Amino acid sequence: MTRRDRVKLSPRHQGWIYATFAVLFATGLLWLVAKRWLAVNGEFGEMTSPLAPLAMQVHGAAAMVFLVLLGTLLQGHVRQAWNARRSRVTGGGMLAGVALLVASGYGLYYLGGEETRAAVSVLHWAVGLGLPAWLVWHVRASTRVRVIRRAPRARREPARVAEPTATEPQALGVERPTFH
Ligand code: HEM
Ligand code: HEM
Repeated sequence: MTRRDRVKLSPRHQGWIYATFAVLFATGLLWLVAKRWLAVNGEFGEMTSPLAPLAMQVHGAAAMVFLVLLGTLLQGHVRQAWNARRSRVTGGGMLAGVALLVASGYGLYYLGGEETRAAVSVLHWAVGLGLPAWLVWHVRASTRVRVIRRAPRARREPARVAEPTATEPQALGVERPTFH
């Protein structure tokens, strides 16, 4: 396999990445909407919509899939692109964003303290809401075909068929010597 091949992802690999990002994004957004605007009236007054925990169940599953995908990207895609100095800015941004999401995702599970958790939560979803747009930028910037503009060509003269000149043997009526 060539170096170029290992940076470039197969359509199926890309499909997994886009689909997993889409699920993470959609379920994260659903959680935010459900928490803020979809309160329901329950036995004990206003309660969070059941959609919020449901969204997090799917989100947590997608996060696991994402970690596997991240592992599949590190060795070929990331390492080789990095060594080849390709797309380091947008790719590095992807890595930084993903690292923040993974670390804050861990924090959401295990950090105690209301205030700390609330701050980590905001950090997590703020980065999460922005990262898909960054991914689009990363993909577009990395795969853009660079059109190398050619300098306008100098006008070509029509090819000239050489006429025998007066000094050439034919013009002087002298036969060319033949060698046997
Ligand atoms: C979690 C991190 C990353 C994700 C999810 C990601 C995802 C993607 C996707 C979906 C594509 C488009 C598919 C393709 O053309 O193969 C792509 C292209 C590309 N990425 Fe990344 N990427 C990440 C990190 C990086 C890093 C760190 C670098 C560089 C240091 C990088 C460099 C590139 C390059 C050079 C391309 C163009 C490949 C080509 O078409 O030949 N990526 N990336
Ligand atoms: C792609 C965009 C993403 C968005 C918009 C997003 C959004 C959210 C939101 C709104 C929450 C709920 C926050 C809270 O409970 O206070 C959450 C929880 C969480 N997220 Fe994300 N997230 C994204 C990506 C990721 C990624 C890449 C991972 C890890 C690989 C991850 C792991 C987690 C975990 C572990 C939780 C806690 C789940 C729970 O409480 O049951 N998220 N996310």
